Formats: sequence, C-alpha cells, structure tokens
Amino acid sequence: MNDLLHLAQRMMLRAHAPYSKFHVGAALRAEDGSIHGGCNVENAAYPQGLCAEAGAIAALIASGNKRILECVVVGPGPEVITPCGGCRQKLREFAGDDVPVHLCGPDGLHRTMTLGQLLPMSFGPQHFA
Ligand code: THU
Repeated sequence: MNDLLHLAQRMMLRAHAPYSKFHVGAALRAEDGSIHGGCNVENAAYPQGLCAEAGAIAALIASGNKRILECVVVGPGPEVITPCGGCRQKLREFAGDDVPVHLCGPDGLHRTMTLGQLLPMSFGPQHFA
C-alpha cells in the first residue's frame, strides 16, 4: 500500500480547505492496477465542498476503471480519520465489503478496516440485480 499512501500524502498537500483547515488526501487502486488520488475541495458555500474520497473516485471512473480494490485515506492529527458516511456509500458503489480501507495519519498507517466493517449491511448495486 506504500504507493497509495505516498499518493494520498501528496494529494493532502493540495487540499483546498481554507474553512476547516482540515487537509485530507485519498488514493484508490483500480482493477487494472492504476492508482488515483483526490483531495478535499471546500467551497465558500459550505455544502458544496467535496471530500477527498469523492475526488479520487471521480478520477478512477474518469480513467475508465469501474472497481476499487484498495483505499487509503490520510488526515491530520493523532485521531484515526475515517471516511464520512456519504463517502462510505460512494465507495460502496465500486467496492465490495472485503476491500481494505487504510486509515492513515501524517506518521503513516493507523488502522486498516474493510469497507464492510465501515458500512455494514450496505445498500448497493446488488439491490438492482
Ligand atoms: N473530509 C474528507 O475529505 N474526507 C473524510 O474522510 C472526512 C472529511 C473533509 C471534508 C471537509 O473538507 C473537511 O474534511 C472537514 O470535514
């Protein structure tokens, strides 16, 4: 996961977070092996802000991929950062319950959880099958 961590850390430096000052980076591995990153992009109209995970998902989809195999999220401070509820659902669209989500701080990996642990009994594409 080191390639993902390094990308997420680079993304974190590019965050546009003048309001919260909470810089977040995310990186995803796609099914073809390529990796894609994103950072949070806040807005003066607060609800229009985007999470780092959303940017990374958009980049992965724009690359022509459809599946997420692994995810890294990096945030500041000693607390374990976890994706917000909305981002867990966004990830679920392209990732299965078993996909690892590495929760990282400035010092590296804090904890790894699966998407299924973060979002149990999720509503997902399978409900339309
Ligand atoms: N944020 C993310 O980008 N990802 C997360 O997983 C949690 C929160 C952002 C949203 C907002 O720009 C800032 O962190 C504070 O909530």
